[in-house]
Amino acid sequence: MSYTIALFLVLLGTLCSFIYFFRTLTTNKNDRKLPPGPAPLPIIGNLHMLGKLPHQSLHHLAKKFGPIMSINLGYVPTIVVSSPEAVELFLKVHDIVFAGRPKLQTSDYITFGAKGMAFTQYGSYWRTVRKWCILHLLSASKVESFAPVRKAEMVSLVESVRTMAAKGETLNLSQQVGKVVEVIMSRVIFGRCFDDEIEFRPLIEETMYLAGVFNLSDYVPFLAPLDLQGIKTRLKRIGNGLHAFFEKLIDEHERGSKNIEEQKSYTDFFHVMVSLLNRPMNPNEENPYIIGRENIKAIMVDMVAASFDTTTTSIEWTLSELLRHPRVMAGLQQELETVVGRNRMVEESDLPKLTYLDMVIKESFRLHPVAPLLVPHESTEDITVNGYVIPKMSRILVNTWSMGRDHNVWSDNAEEFIPERFEDSSIDLRGHHFQLIPFGSGRRGCPGMQLGLTNMRLIIAQLVHCFDWELPDAILPNELDMTEKFGITLPRANHLVAKPTFRLVG
Ligand code: HEM
Repeated sequence: MSYTIALFLVLLGTLCSFIYFFRTLTTNKNDRKLPPGPAPLPIIGNLHMLGKLPHQSLHHLAKKFGPIMSINLGYVPTIVVSSPEAVELFLKVHDIVFAGRPKLQTSDYITFGAKGMAFTQYGSYWRTVRKWCILHLLSASKVESFAPVRKAEMVSLVESVRTMAAKGETLNLSQQVGKVVEVIMSRVIFGRCFDDEIEFRPLIEETMYLAGVFNLSDYVPFLAPLDLQGIKTRLKRIGNGLHAFFEKLIDEHERGSKNIEEQKSYTDFFHVMVSLLNRPMNPNEENPYIIGRENIKAIMVDMVAASFDTTTTSIEWTLSELLRHPRVMAGLQQELETVVGRNRMVEESDLPKLTYLDMVIKESFRLHPVAPLLVPHESTEDITVNGYVIPKMSRILVNTWSMGRDHNVWSDNAEEFIPERFEDSSIDLRGHHFQLIPFGSGRRGCPGMQLGLTNMRLIIAQLVHCFDWELPDAILPNELDMTEKFGITLPRANHLVAKPTFRLVG
């Protein structure tokens, strides 16, 4: 029976896609000028051209077809943007039209049909949630107020690495960094860390992988019931794990909140939000949004997913590049010695003076943007950009990975890691300089930039200042494996491992 249904679906879909395919060809030729791009196949469009590392395949295709390129992902018209001038048109000049997000199977299972922020449609619910998260978690004053949490976690990080160094052990830096980011962010979001109650990291890593993977069900909807890649099954499993955990936390809060004294002391993001359960999030506005359990769980998933993996991956790549370039590592240690001295750890107040560190981080983001295609945007109406017609509900992929390697922008040495290229340069990371936008730009740009960057700067500075690092098994710096693993973020395919030696005096 299920075989008959599957066969019927495939035949019906094939027929529809041939009709669609020939209509697209004739329409494009006659009266609509889509951006140039490779010819699509029926049903799958250009999906077969993406390979295991789609950002790299799209980079090569854009060299042939240009910085505004049109492809078909299954039935979804998609525009790939790969130059600073083109990105400015999409994320600044016409930002409002491209501030939509596509509807994805991932958000159905993980955030209850996009009740969080990152995959929510542009509009008043998204605006309310974004404002709320900035006010209670991401504003400059909030980020500043978490300094004691960061300080305490830096002390335990250095202590635990020092113990390993004393034993002459090799350290899995990827895991160690992942753990410290998880603990800091859990304390910041939930007011506590969870020890072994929940292994967040594997769940979040899997979420980020599945959110980035090109899911056939999103692009060829008639195949969705067959779940050919097994993605739906995996999404259900992760969604259930995360939601059960947040349910338990909400229940705990509800039991605790009967105690009025305890209620008064709630200051962390999660508890402030749960205190609003079944009440409006924006009581003073025309359209109040009542906060239910699903909203809370979806927003928490978004905060956890958007912060753990991005920050960890950014630190991992920066440390990898430092290990591959002993000259740059020595330059950074020299700066830290001058600013901090050899007899103490780095303090947050040192960070503004670490200008070489900032250049190192920019250079790392240039070559390893954590979200190589940003988070997909979607056009909310038909629009003409640079003379090309972009239909409503087109998916927009901004290839920041490709832009970081553009020889016209970064000169012939674009593939090399040279932080000094940012010396005397006004380029910053805030999304105003379109050649370097690791946090995106415009309305949908990352609201957690300051929180992410502060964690990143502090952890890198601490690890580089307090320890010398050596690659294991006599691996030479230029032999360090730099293979990427594609998802919505782009982590290392293999963990970074190195041997620390404590280098502070005393
Ligand atoms: C180094 C760390 C980080 C990097 C590199 C990063 C990067 C990004 C990028 C590229 C986007 C997509 C922008 C676009 O689509 O145009 C994004 C969106 C987002 N980020 Fe971050 N991020 C980081 C840390 C954080 C942190 C710490 C949080 C919050 C706790 C956060 C919350 C978000 C949210 C909620 C969105 C979706 C915004 C929306 O759709 O309105 N991020 N981030």
